Amino acid sequence: MSTHQRYLIAGNWKMNGVLSEAREFIRALAENPAPEHVEVALMPPFTLLHPLADKLSTRGVRLGAQNVYYEPKGAFTGSISPLMLRDAGCRYVILGHSERRDIMGEKNDTIRHKLDAAWNSGLEPILCIGEHLDDRKSGNTNAVLTEQLSVLEGSDAEKMLTIAYEPVWAIGTGVTPTTDEVRDTHTFIHQKLTDIGKDHRVLYGGSVNAANAAELLGLPGVDGALVGGASLQAESFSQIIQAAASCANN
Ligand code: PGA
Repeated sequence: MSTHQRYLIAGNWKMNGVLSEAREFIRALAENPAPEHVEVALMPPFTLLHPLADKLSTRGVRLGAQNVYYEPKGAFTGSISPLMLRDAGCRYVILGHSERRDIMGEKNDTIRHKLDAAWNSGLEPILCIGEHLDDRKSGNTNAVLTEQLSVLEGSDAEKMLTIAYEPVWAIGTGVTPTTDEVRDTHTFIHQKLTDIGKDHRVLYGGSVNAANAAELLGLPGVDGALVGGASLQAESFSQIIQAAASCANN
């Protein structure tokens, strides 16, 4: 039995947003308060965590970071530790995003260190997994996901975990998988996590927007969304939250 709420809608701002924009976003978001049964979280850049923490928590929005380093402190120039994220009010941290895997070269062993460090500090990781287009076309999706999920081997089954299934070819492209592909892939991921006895949920990510959110969130096995581009505007982000609320009520 999952201890998570039915839906999590998480906004990944990536490397976007300065303080004035964030303040305006929160003001506009507050016009549509988060409905019951939908958990809302925002992952702004590190520089906005402290200034936004109180404003978000009074509006019932949880805070997360987009990355973390695995050491608690020390001579690691340019890095941010899990303790610092907790101190800034974070509950979540995104790990293994395809942009970090592909652009910054992050591999499973680094991601595993980060997972453990996040758990040990009381953060809940949102672990991103997903295949490239050539993997999908050649029928290798499940093999790729299995390899990415192997970072969880031997980890404490009790630790809270959210997976974000994000096909790399759907990120920022406006293209989404078919509903059959999303349903089948989420079923596969849920089964893998259930096999290792992990309390978990599985978000979908990749070109989620106000127009397609209800259809995607209504699919069995989709427990929420990790939203990039459409989370930068309060209006589209609110519409996605409302779509989750109507799915939760059905
Ligand atoms: P997108 O990004 O919604 O802009 O496709 C999703 C993500 O990378 O998390």
